[in-house]
Amino acid sequence: MTDTDQGAAPTTAPSSAPAGDARPAEASSPRSMPEPAEPDPRMPRLANSPGFRDWMLQGWGDADRTPTVPAGAAEAGARHRERLSGAFPGRLIAVAAGRAPMRVNDNAHEFRADSDFLWLVGAAVEDAVLVLEPTGGGHDATLYLPAPFRPGDEGFFADPLRGELWVGPMPGLAEYAEALGLRTRRIEELDLPGDALLGGTVPTAGPAAALATRPRSGELAQVLAELRMIKDAWELAELRAAVDTTVDGFAATALEIPRAVSLGGERWLQGTFDRHARTFAAGVGYASIVGSGAHAPILHWVRAEGEVDPEALLLLDLGAERRSGYTADVTRTLPASGRFSTVQREVHDLVEASHRAGLAAVGPGRDWADFHTACMEVLARGLADWGLLPVSVDEALSPEGQQHRRFIVCGVGHHLGIDVHDCSSASHAAYQGAKMQPGMALTVEPGLYFHAFDETLPPELRGIGVRLEDDLVVTEQGADVISAALPIEAAGIEAWMAGLR
Ligand code: GLY
Ligand code: MN
Ligand code: MN
Repeated sequence: MTDTDQGAAPTTAPSSAPAGDARPAEASSPRSMPEPAEPDPRMPRLANSPGFRDWMLQGWGDADRTPTVPAGAAEAGARHRERLSGAFPGRLIAVAAGRAPMRVNDNAHEFRADSDFLWLVGAAVEDAVLVLEPTGGGHDATLYLPAPFRPGDEGFFADPLRGELWVGPMPGLAEYAEALGLRTRRIEELDLPGDALLGGTVPTAGPAAALATRPRSGELAQVLAELRMIKDAWELAELRAAVDTTVDGFAATALEIPRAVSLGGERWLQGTFDRHARTFAAGVGYASIVGSGAHAPILHWVRAEGEVDPEALLLLDLGAERRSGYTADVTRTLPASGRFSTVQREVHDLVEASHRAGLAAVGPGRDWADFHTACMEVLARGLADWGLLPVSVDEALSPEGQQHRRFIVCGVGHHLGIDVHDCSSASHAAYQGAKMQPGMALTVEPGLYFHAFDETLPPELRGIGVRLEDDLVVTEQGADVISAALPIEAAGIEAWMAGLR
């Protein structure tokens, strides 16, 4: 990491006085430090001599500034804008892309654009705002974005956020206009009327920050979520590609189990998948869950700071995200040794039966809630057979009961798309209360989570967690399980693991 501080500059503070520390100097200090003029922690202290400046403004050649836009994404964005336009005739709409949040001091996280913005534009353009202006028959689209600093601008060498000498070649207005088929304007020209519908992620800093005080439209967020529920062929191809990369990533991760057992633990496996996703897609769609043994029942075990126990189950919940934003969300629970023990297999078999019941309940015209009901019924019956419920199955399955949920406090599926939990701003009527339609994508993910410290359980079940999670697309005829390349039955998982070596 390059320090933004050029130490030779005359205004540089000695290391004993941290930059940006605005406390007055101690009276007894032998060298009282001047107050920093404008302590913006992100701005470097540059050499500011006229000689340096004049020399830096000249002599730079050209660079390739073609934006990274996934094939077909610009066209998909145009189709999606048409659909949004139809939902809001006569209304002015603005959707902001957001900006990378700062991680620490002057270091930002990687930028991930707002999902609605990605759906409407097709590319991640930091600090940009898409505006749809009503016309007679629909809307005209304009992308407002900050102009990068280029050779000949002082910011080219002085601005660590947008200067090309710092961050590499940056596409600008002309390049984005060409690649996205959109009119572009400088963000400084954006002047939104008060009745505009504002959506997306509005940053609190940077050139779009003036919008941060304006209310975001809940109606716009809801309509976008509901439009995004039905994926077109291009979106489904992106989703399938994300799943394919994830399936490969499961193999790459499982191959590293021996190394994780001997050195590295859960963290090694998490890093293995993350590297795979970052190399063959854009990254991960959510923090990878890697839980060995007693960590497997912990639903959001993203810390991955444990050992990998060679005798225990290993729960892997992994998803690669494409540049388009579409992400997979797949879980398998593997025996680290390659062979399930008897009790591990029994738990896995029950989850598999629940999973198969859930898969069978997905299809066009089915109630969204059907697969939830199907999964839960199988789990409750199995738990009752094992004597783990304090009431009868019927009582547990009644709305007043639900005792079986002690072992699965989470849901068993959700819409999947640009967000791992896609379309979450949709109304209850359009989501949980709706019928399934062709073009919907979702997960089915029943599990059983027997915590190590659950004193209601027999000792042999404590510390066992199993989840089976597949990604599905609802079709005209039924449903495609697009993650079906990974087996779901215990014997198939053992054979798959053996085949990797
Ligand atoms: N990985 C998050 C989920 O399964 O919903
Ligand atoms: Mn999921
Ligand atoms: Mn998951």
